[in-house]
Amino acid sequence: MITVRAPATSANLGSGFDVFGLALTGPADVIRVEKAPRTRLTVTGAGAKYIPEDPKRNTVGAVVDALDAPAAIRIDKGIRPASGLGSSAASAAGAAVALNALYDRGYSREELVSIAAEGEAVAAGDTHEDNVAPALLGGFTIATATGVTQIDANVPIVVCLPDIVVSTSDARKVLPDGVRMSELVETVGSAATLTAGMARDDPMLVGRGMEESIVTPARAKLIDGYDEVCRRARGAGATGVTISGAGPGVVAVCPESRQRRVATAMLDGFDNVGVDAKVYQSAVGPGAQILTGEEIPSSL
Ligand code: HSE
Repeated sequence: MITVRAPATSANLGSGFDVFGLALTGPADVIRVEKAPRTRLTVTGAGAKYIPEDPKRNTVGAVVDALDAPAAIRIDKGIRPASGLGSSAASAAGAAVALNALYDRGYSREELVSIAAEGEAVAAGDTHEDNVAPALLGGFTIATATGVTQIDANVPIVVCLPDIVVSTSDARKVLPDGVRMSELVETVGSAATLTAGMARDDPMLVGRGMEESIVTPARAKLIDGYDEVCRRARGAGATGVTISGAGPGVVAVCPESRQRRVATAMLDGFDNVGVDAKVYQSAVGPGAQILTGEEIPSSL
C-alpha cells in the first residue's frame, strides 16, 4: 500500500497562461493505492459528491491505464473541484506517484508529468501541464511544448477561495480569439519579470510580473468581487494579485510581513460583496510526497 500527499497548485500567475505553475504548501489531496485485480475508486472529502468514482470518468483512470497499474484507490480531497487550485491535477499527480511506486515502474517525476496530464485531461477536457508539473516537481514550473523547467522559489503566497464555482471549460470559453501585438509584448515582459522574480525569491518582481491584460480581465467577470479583492489586497501590501488557474481562487504575492494583513483584506473583499470565502496563507511547496508512518492521516 502506498499513500501520497499531492499539493494544490496555482497555474498561470497572470502572465504565464497555460505555462506557469506554482506548488502550494496547502491544501492537498491524499491518495492511497493498493494492488487489486480491477481498479476501484472511492472519493471522500471536499466536493467529493461532484467527482465521479467510475475510473473511466475520473482523472486517475487514464493514469492507471498509462502505468498498467490496476489498484484499489482512495482519494481524500482536500482541494475542492472547480476552485482554480489544481484539484484534478493533484489527484492525477498523486495517483501517478503512488502507482509508479506501488508497481515499481521506475518513471522519473519529469516523465510522470505527461502521464498525469493525460489523466487531468479527463476532468479538464484539454491537456495542459501547468498544474500537474508543479504538483509533481514542486516549486515554480514553466511547462512548454519543449519540456518543463523547475525553479525552487521562495515567496510568500496568499490564496483566497470564494464559495463560487467556475469550471475550467467555462473559463476557457470566455478567452479572446486573438491578441494585439502590444498585449503580446506586455505579456512577454511580465512573464520574463515574474521568472526573474522567482529565481531571486523577490515578491516585488513576481508581483510586477503577474500583470497581463488578455486572459485575466476576460475571466474576472466570472468572479463576483474580484476587483474589490484585488484592490484591498494591494492596499494591504500585496505586490501582485491575479486569478489562480481558471478561478475562482485568487492568488496574491506579498512580503512575509504583510501576509496576514493581505489574507484578511482578501476575505473582507469577498465578504463586502456577500461571498463567503476561505483563505490560505501559503508558501511555495514541494511536489507530491509519499507518506510514511505517522504522516499518514488516520482517517484513511
Ligand atoms: N491554464 C489553465 C487555465 C489552468 O487557466 O485554463 C486550468 O487547468
